Amino acid sequence: MAKIDLGQSGLIVPDVALGVMRIADKSAKEAETIVETVLAHDVNFFDTADIYAAGQSSTVLGQALKTVGVARDQIFIQSKGGIILENGQINGDGWTGPRYDFTGSHLIAAVDAELQRLQTDYLDVFLLHRPDTLQEPDAIAEAFTTLAKAGKVRHFGVSNMNPWQVEFLQQALDQKLIANQLQFGIMHTNMIDAEFHVNMQDARSIDHDGGILAYSRLHHMTIQAWSPFQYGFFEGPFIDNPKFPEVNAKLQAIADKYNVTKNAVAVAWITYHPAKMQVIVGSMNRQRLSEMTAHNTVQLTNQEWYDIYLAAGNDLP
Ligand SMILES: NC(=O)c1ccc[n+]([C@@H]2O[C@H](COP(=O)([O-])OP(=O)(O)OC[C@H]3O[C@@H](n4cnc5c(N)ncnc54)[C@H](OP(=O)(O)O)[C@@H]3O)[C@@H](O)[C@H]2O)c1
Repeated sequence: MAKIDLGQSGLIVPDVALGVMRIADKSAKEAETIVETVLAHDVNFFDTADIYAAGQSSTVLGQALKTVGVARDQIFIQSKGGIILENGQINGDGWTGPRYDFTGSHLIAAVDAELQRLQTDYLDVFLLHRPDTLQEPDAIAEAFTTLAKAGKVRHFGVSNMNPWQVEFLQQALDQKLIANQLQFGIMHTNMIDAEFHVNMQDARSIDHDGGILAYSRLHHMTIQAWSPFQYGFFEGPFIDNPKFPEVNAKLQAIADKYNVTKNAVAVAWITYHPAKMQVIVGSMNRQRLSEMTAHNTVQLTNQEWYDIYLAAGNDLP
């Protein structure tokens, strides 16, 4: 498994991580099998969030990690907070939303609750899940420092933020923001489309992300690609989807060349980019996870990378 620097944290992590947003409805045994499968493929980085299945995803992950018996210092656990759902969260914590909440007291309570669910003393990384326009960066800074000093969080990052939002927050913080988790995959390429279509008037010239790709590379922040197999906003996977014959045919041809499956090529398409992103895969299927983590055997050419981009329905001006 190829490793990447996680931003400027000093952590060396696999270029694929397991996201557990969909693990809550798995039995304890199934969850253990999933954890064992990815560990066998050298994927020792786990991404969760307090809102996934109202906390249940983190609980199931925590129990599976415990049962599997992997040493805490052999794995990385990342979680996110800062969102309060309409019906509140779990354990009678009393929060009701819906809102985003970056107040210091909420962020500290969110981390404490995650540590309990995950049965661990610390998070390797804590991300602010979605930008809260009511945020006060100084209050966030105080909360981060409290969490860091208590040994509860080692590194901090963000999710779904554009460059100015990162800058605005970063100027108040003592800690370097190391990662930004953003939706990215073959069928969700805003940040690349906008780079190709600068100064044009077509739809792809709309810069939804404020130049986040170049910004992240410039500032050595790792982009973590979430929902890499989805098209749209959780509309479903694009692999083997009859809506997308052209990209599937292209992926199959390249998969045949490298003797892997389309799943491996789809991951390799992301890791091939020199931004050195980390791919957060969310499959709960052993076979697919094994196929996805074969991505390192695919050595794409620049032309193959562009061919996949074009087969996904994009154009180059
Ligand atoms: N920061 C954020 O705002 C944010 C938002 C969403 C997600 N995330 C993170 O990103 C992680 C991944 O998200 P995701 O679960 O949406 O990722 P995903 O890997 O794009 O999608 C996984 C889902 O698609 C199915 N799937 C994937 N490949 C398939 C294939 N080749 N054929 C058929 N079905 C396929 C999986 O089914 P099977 O299980 O049957 O394989 C599963 O239901 C989450 O767990 C979470 O950690 C972050």
